[in-house]
Amino acid sequence: MEPTLTSSIVILTGAGVSAESGLGTFRDTDGHWTKYDLNDVATPEGFARNPVLVHEFYNARRRNCAGARPNPAHLALARLETGFNGTVMVVTQNIDDLHERAGSRAVCHMHGTLSRALCAACGHRWDAPAVMAADDPCPGCRTPATRPDVVWFGEMPYFMDEICAALESVDLFVSIGTSGSVYPAAGFVEIARSAGARTLELNLEPSDTASAFDETRQGAAGVLVPAWVDTVLATQ
Ligand code: OAD
Repeated sequence: MEPTLTSSIVILTGAGVSAESGLGTFRDTDGHWTKYDLNDVATPEGFARNPVLVHEFYNARRRNCAGARPNPAHLALARLETGFNGTVMVVTQNIDDLHERAGSRAVCHMHGTLSRALCAACGHRWDAPAVMAADDPCPGCRTPATRPDVVWFGEMPYFMDEICAALESVDLFVSIGTSGSVYPAAGFVEIARSAGARTLELNLEPSDTASAFDETRQGAAGVLVPAWVDTVLATQ
């Protein structure tokens, strides 16, 4: 499953790519959604009901992220971007910054990022403090309506036009460390297939959408991704 010369690669990543950095996934045995109800901490309605709980959840994740380091999977994807004779775009559902800290530049955070704050009143964005609270005033309009700049269920993911344009002309689509249970990301494999791309899944276990891929490989991202990148760079 290696691309030919001058091709383009789109890589979708999920929580599994950061699991070996110590950041939890959502739906695995001890994942976030076994400890929290996503309706409480990942919806606009949950935020309206209990902003303190929501900020506690994301403040803890921001703290964990600050203490985490990129793992061999993130580092391999950065190496791919530098060494590949074509375009590489990482579309991540993750709100950590481990792809960037590994050296990737073309990263699209479709579910937003822990490193930014968003004013729920006026839409202004700014760099997130380490600890955020709903009554922090917006630096723009001064309203105390601060929220993390993350996409919650019921909200539109970011960069969908750019992502769909990339998928419609991609040669190889690779999905890494995602359960394939959340749309629209779970539907990207079908968009890429319809555009004629080859498709590869690298995941600990077959995802919900595994049958849509041309090839699936099971194992830890920290092992599978560097091996796949080595082959791509050696055969381009
Ligand atoms: P999930 O927790 O749903 O899935 C993580 C996937 O990674 C599972 O299929 C695991 O088998 C796999 N996995 C775990 N460890 C791995 C490893 N070391 N190497 C490779 N794979 C591994 O997380 P996501 O698919 O990212 O959205 O979840 C998608 C979205 O659902 C998230 O962005 C988040 C969540 O609710 C919002 O909060 C809006």
